[in-house]
Amino acid sequence: MKEYSNVTYLNHPLLKSKLSRIRSKDTPTSEFRRIVKEIAVMEGYEALRNVKTKIVEIETPLEKTSQPIVEGSKLCFVPILRAGMGMVDGMTELVPTAHVGHIGLYRDEVTHEPHEYYCKLPKGLEDMDIYVLDPMLATGGSAIDAIKLLKQHGAKKLHFICIIAAPEGVEAFCKANPDIPLYVGALDRQLNENCYICPGLGDAGDRIFGTI
Ligand code: PRP
Ligand code: URA
Repeated sequence: MKEYSNVTYLNHPLLKSKLSRIRSKDTPTSEFRRIVKEIAVMEGYEALRNVKTKIVEIETPLEKTSQPIVEGSKLCFVPILRAGMGMVDGMTELVPTAHVGHIGLYRDEVTHEPHEYYCKLPKGLEDMDIYVLDPMLATGGSAIDAIKLLKQHGAKKLHFICIIAAPEGVEAFCKANPDIPLYVGALDRQLNENCYICPGLGDAGDRIFGTI
């Protein structure tokens, strides 16, 4: 597969080990949900590496000093419903003051095309660093549509975080958005005939919410 300069593969043994747990069909919903959150913390830690800070005056027990803090009000996390919801708590654990927007998309079971059913975003998106969250990047259709929608609402500084990607999804995303940083926990082999990622973990939304 072609290499894309906007893509970061996390490739960390701790993340891979957690991922192996949620890949297993025997992992129950409660554990699945907890691990998705933990993986979001790990990916968020990397994806927020260059986040902007402002300098504030504080006083240690010894003296006054000027130190950096993250400006949460300039950050917005946007999960793609449903499965992206599983990553929100991990991200807000890192930056509790960040805004959270929501985009609802579902894939048609036959065409695999995404359909929008919900969109609620905070005002002032144009000045925020936006991190779109979805565990699965399969065909890339949902990710591409979510980015389009955010741009229509004025978003300029966009990033996308997924847990598992198919090569087909990475290619499609990068062709559509060569300048948007894409963070990938693991790159899997391929899509199957139903556009599910293999080996993957199955339907992320169903596994997070126990609707299997
Ligand atoms: C899943 C997943 C992504 C999408 C990925 O959602 O969470 O949003 O599929 O597939 P794509 O890259 O081919 O677009 P789904 O549509 O199953 O909805 P759900 O989260 O409500 O289960
Ligand atoms: N959506 C999922 O939840 N899983 C896949 O493998 C592909 C799309």
